[in-house]
Amino acid sequence: MQRWIIKPDSSDWKDAPEIEPICEALKDGKLVAIPTETVYGLAANATDGEACARIYQAKGRPRFNPLISHLQSAEAAEVHGIFDDRAKRLAKAFWPGPLTLVVPKKLTSPISDLATAGLETVALRVPASPITRYLAEKSGLPLAAPSANLSGRISPTSADEVISDLGPSLAFVVDAGPCEVGVESTIVAIAGPHPLLLRPGGTPREAIEEVLGEPLLAPEAKPDAPMAPGMLTSHYAPSAKVRLNAREVLAGEALLAFGSTPIADAEKATTVLNLSQDGNLREAAANLFAYMRHLDATGVKTICVPTIPNKGLGEAINDRLKRAAAPRPSHQA
Ligand code: TXA
Ligand code: MG
Repeated sequence: MQRWIIKPDSSDWKDAPEIEPICEALKDGKLVAIPTETVYGLAANATDGEACARIYQAKGRPRFNPLISHLQSAEAAEVHGIFDDRAKRLAKAFWPGPLTLVVPKKLTSPISDLATAGLETVALRVPASPITRYLAEKSGLPLAAPSANLSGRISPTSADEVISDLGPSLAFVVDAGPCEVGVESTIVAIAGPHPLLLRPGGTPREAIEEVLGEPLLAPEAKPDAPMAPGMLTSHYAPSAKVRLNAREVLAGEALLAFGSTPIADAEKATTVLNLSQDGNLREAAANLFAYMRHLDATGVKTICVPTIPNKGLGEAINDRLKRAAAPRPSHQA
């Protein structure tokens, strides 16, 4: 595995000697960890079924869970999906950025069935990270990329975390420093009469509803074939138990605090990390996964968290916390 460290805010990397071998590795079906503004992705050529199989294998991910394809522009995305007026407006308003659109897949799209898990829809995203868009453009490939963590574990927001979960499976790690958003993209399906919010994430629901001029609905619950199968109940799981809406710290617990939300017996906590001293939800989202990993690494049995406001990015934070707190299936324990 080769680690390539770049400064995301310069564009010197455009002429770097690493670009060519990374594109070649992708064309050869190898796995490359890519930075995005949300979390690091485990990328492979989305048109190559075997390469996508390697993603599932490296992550230990259940086969039925489809992948998001990352592209350099909305035009490149339209090669693969059918964008109606609503989808076009969302792409225009939020791309590049932390929004994934699930739209009907074009019959002519070469994206493999393994990437879409055989669905008739395709998940497309144009990430904010310039280096990742550049790699998609230079390789000429849609890049299938789930979060670069082992299935069911916490998503990585730094290259070190990627390497500790998946190092041996990777050809390259493109290290552009910490991810600024810190929670995954919001997933919206525009494939039926009503726009659906499949996963809250880095683009707040309120902003999307404003552009659409209508509310985002929840997908119908279909336990056998979930609309966003990645939304398995237990996901984003640290080894420690997670206790939500805590009003006090119990003996032996670590505290994941938020702003100045009052919590009794805070001095009992084995470790305290504050998601955002100022109670800023954007900062809290950016710190969430790294802080959960950090507290987990102390070996503590339980992490307690006070109530976090459910507006804006708070919806995504609460969604991830709820999943981290959910009972674990035995194979993930
Ligand atoms: O921010 C992100 O979206 C990150 C970065 C790397 O871009 N990626 C990410 O991917 O979170 P992943 O694989 O962890 O989550 C993809 C989600 C899953 O919940 C999956 O079920 C859903 O997208 N998905 C993919 N294709 C879909 C489809 N055709 N219909 C419904 N859901 C789909
Ligand atoms: Mg994930």
